[in-house]
Amino acid sequence: MRRSYYCGEVTAEQIGETVTLMGWVHRRRDHGGLIFVDLRDREGIVQVVFGPEHGSDAYETARRMRSEYVIAVTGQVRRRPPGTENVRLKTGEVEVPAAEAVILNEAKTPVFPLDEERPVGEELRLTYRYLDLRRPSLHRNFRIRHQASQVVRAFFDRHGFIEVETPALTRSTPEGARDYLVPARLYPGQFFALPQSPQLFKQLLMVAGFDRYFQIVRCFRDEDLRAERQPEFTQIDVEMSFVDREDVLVLMEELVATIFREVKGVELDRPFPRMKHEEAVARYGLDKPDMRFEMFLGDLSDLCARTAFRPFADALASGGQVKGITVQGKAEAFSRKIIDDLTEFVKGFGAKGLTPFRMTAGGLQSPVAKFLGPEVLEGLVRRFELGAGDLLLTIGDSPAVVAESLGRLRVKLGLELGLIDETLIRPVWVTDFPLLEYSEEEKRHVAVHHPFTAPMDEHLSLFESAPEKMRAKAYDLVINGHEVGGGSIRNHDRETQQKVFDALGFSPEQARERFGFLLEALEFGTPPHGGIAFGFDRLIMLLTGADSIREVIAFPKTQRAQCLMTGAPAAVDPVQLQELGLRLHVI
Ligand code: AMO
Repeated sequence: MRRSYYCGEVTAEQIGETVTLMGWVHRRRDHGGLIFVDLRDREGIVQVVFGPEHGSDAYETARRMRSEYVIAVTGQVRRRPPGTENVRLKTGEVEVPAAEAVILNEAKTPVFPLDEERPVGEELRLTYRYLDLRRPSLHRNFRIRHQASQVVRAFFDRHGFIEVETPALTRSTPEGARDYLVPARLYPGQFFALPQSPQLFKQLLMVAGFDRYFQIVRCFRDEDLRAERQPEFTQIDVEMSFVDREDVLVLMEELVATIFREVKGVELDRPFPRMKHEEAVARYGLDKPDMRFEMFLGDLSDLCARTAFRPFADALASGGQVKGITVQGKAEAFSRKIIDDLTEFVKGFGAKGLTPFRMTAGGLQSPVAKFLGPEVLEGLVRRFELGAGDLLLTIGDSPAVVAESLGRLRVKLGLELGLIDETLIRPVWVTDFPLLEYSEEEKRHVAVHHPFTAPMDEHLSLFESAPEKMRAKAYDLVINGHEVGGGSIRNHDRETQQKVFDALGFSPEQARERFGFLLEALEFGTPPHGGIAFGFDRLIMLLTGADSIREVIAFPKTQRAQCLMTGAPAAVDPVQLQELGLRLHVI
């Protein structure tokens, strides 16, 4: 037997035609005398009917069929009897009475049902990922992923970019996460690192005169995982020579708009809005603002300057802030219990508490009202334009804690109160990031993007005097509150690059040891250049509407960075360790 159509392709056009189909038994219904099988392949499902009058051998074979058996059938396509059509299926007008049938392979009862979209525990799904991947909803995600990569490649080709592959066995690349290391057999005690990104290689391709590079490339980062992070993930990585920030943003905006148009049929409003990092943090609390709903952070530090309320007074005395967000119409609906839960939530981001103010008929009420006095309360009503029934939630703390905890609270409330229109796609470029930030953990400045990002020209003089005030030629693309891409214009002269390394506290030896090849390359005629990398998986999440990155990666790791299907990571054969010149001493 030879397959003539995919199951999902058989429509009224094939009526009268004898077809041969192959696929999996999605569902089987025995009506005594007639057996119905929904036959599934990657294109969809078609109804096959087995009855002694269509083919008695085929009917006998069908009696032995079970869910997920792999079968082949031949029959003449016919219209379904009136009233039995299934409008939800592309093939719903027709059925195939089986004249012949063969069981190509049997199947154990699947560990979870595949013929319905009933929720199944993720652990089980990932352990039997090959079964999970049979589900039509997942097939759809990978179709979209495939389509997107075709669109990306065609776009770059049209615009004169060359796809170049860069090594997976390399040296540590500083993107801020831990490296995955690979021991080198020929150099016992030495290791390759898997790239956190191809950052240095793509810059070297600019030194090499490639001018426009892109790559759809796997990156590896050993970091704490979240719903939108994986230890290995894919980037659309881009670098361009002789460009400034504007060139990169305009072309990359066109790329993103093309992807959404061609894959999702959505026309994005352009130009994408732009927002300075400072404004994003001030108004949204986060550097990845979700622009789908309005609810902005407001500052009440000045109003509370002389307050007797200790948490606010202490925060302000130590250089902190007091800020708040208004939740319209929730003064009554948000009980003490709900406020307590929200307080627990913001404590997760370092806040010490959450102070509510309720706008009631009798004025603004709060457990701390007596510490603030009528003047401050009056000021709050005016500043936040509080109307009857509004709720104001406030936090006093260091600027970083205030921003993050209120920013996260804003997103949580936006989602839970249904303030977000889930059909919207709202991109925004966040620009003018700080170049450096102080890391309490490392007791030194670290790069906000990465150490190769160029400072703003007008800030070059601040290296010695006020490095934390320097802004970078860096930009992120944020869509619906997800950081979808990030990049920058790079340091193409050795002197500035050296100054950044100095500011990061790398000694000349450390800089030479880690990035000597880059510093040297910068002396061989490096063009001005810049680029960006998009999180491809995150883009696919947005294109598919998936709520986890694991839904758009064929064989993902768990939140604990394990592959439940293969059992990786795993112990290795002692012989392998010996070959590598390693002895295990797990601490
Ligand atoms: P960055 O570190 O911002 O920049 O990474 C670019 C984009 O990659 C995605 N991303 C991730 N996606 C899934 N899982 C992860 N663990 C993960 N980490 C990052 C994000 C992010 O915006 N070399 C620079 C780019 C450049 O400067 O050109 C870089 O890698 O969507």
